[in-house]
Amino acid sequence: MSVLLTLENIAIGFGDDGPLAVHDVSLTVGEGEVVGLVGESGSGKSLTCRSVLRLIPGRGRIRSGTVRMAGRDVLGLSAPELRDLRAHQVGMIFQDPFTSLNPTLRIGAQLVETLRVNAGLTRDAARRRAVQLLDQVDIPRPEERLRAYPHELSGGMRQRVMIAMAMACDPLLLIADEPTTALDVSTQAQVLALLQRLRRERGMSVLLVSHDFGVIAAVCDRVVVMYGGFVVESGTVEQVYRTPAHPYTRALLDAVPSLEVPEPGERRRAIPGPPLGSTSYDGGCPFAPRCALAGPACAEVDMSLRPAGDGHLSACPFAEGDPR
Ligand SMILES: Nc1ncnc2c1ncn2[C@@H]1O[C@H](COP(=O)(O)OP(=O)(O)O)[C@@H](O)[C@H]1O
Ligand code: SF4
Ligand SMILES: [Mg+2]
Repeated sequence: MSVLLTLENIAIGFGDDGPLAVHDVSLTVGEGEVVGLVGESGSGKSLTCRSVLRLIPGRGRIRSGTVRMAGRDVLGLSAPELRDLRAHQVGMIFQDPFTSLNPTLRIGAQLVETLRVNAGLTRDAARRRAVQLLDQVDIPRPEERLRAYPHELSGGMRQRVMIAMAMACDPLLLIADEPTTALDVSTQAQVLALLQRLRRERGMSVLLVSHDFGVIAAVCDRVVVMYGGFVVESGTVEQVYRTPAHPYTRALLDAVPSLEVPEPGERRRAIPGPPLGSTSYDGGCPFAPRCALAGPACAEVDMSLRPAGDGHLSACPFAEGDPR
């Protein structure tokens, strides 16, 4: 499989020399592959996604690292090239549908505008394409829905509109940041089934973010686990479930009450210890304050990924119970 997206050692910080929010993230997404990005709130998943489009909010900056998308060096692109990347190669569904859908504009106006700007269509052609797109994401009576305002639609319908907008550019890569988090369980399942169908029909790649392992297991080929702004583990869904290599991943899976892979949205116990963001990071393994295996050497660990079996990687050098 050829690689479509590569992130290498991405670091993101806020302000001129404020602390890093993302320390070191490397990952790849292959052509046609669905990769899951999992980790608790605050681990840096959304910022990682946004780095692909160079859409870091506020005073955030990508401080170092490389982003390559379809052979292009994204951090080196000029403004017009970046517009082209956003318009034709990468579609993104942002975490909060209200920040990406304008509440004062009808759905149709927003979709038609996106299509006119990005695909260069005339108003009539954009309108026809908008109807087609809504139909593709299983929105009934699409002509009627084009006249609706976002608040007139259910959460599930709004999320479908978001997916339609992201698909408007016929992207090579769809980034979906927690697309089902705000939805009830049955609507979640429908939206996930829709993503799977679109992926199958279009052969596009997907980077799917969730804090929910059940969602990831249901649709992904590979999983990347983040904690505290680092990738701590990556591997196939099978590897990460059956033989989790990093203590954080194990804790995440242990926190699921049953031994089965959780259903999307299933409740689980919290991982003990101080939650992310409540302590400052000063080197070593960020999971140490909560890790049952932590020892003095963990404060000095460098967070590079180490082989843990056939393509399976983990940032913990001690997970096999070595002395430290
Ligand atoms: N707009 C922002 N301003 C300042 N800090 C931010 C901003 N967005 C994110 N951060 C910091 O980056 C961390 C990671 O954020 P985010 O990528 O949104 O995490 P996740 O998506 O995994 O919940 C946050 O915990 C916060 O400390
Ligand atoms: S490096 Fe130490 S603290 Fe971090 S996960 Fe491994 S054992 Fe736990
Ligand atoms: Mg997020």
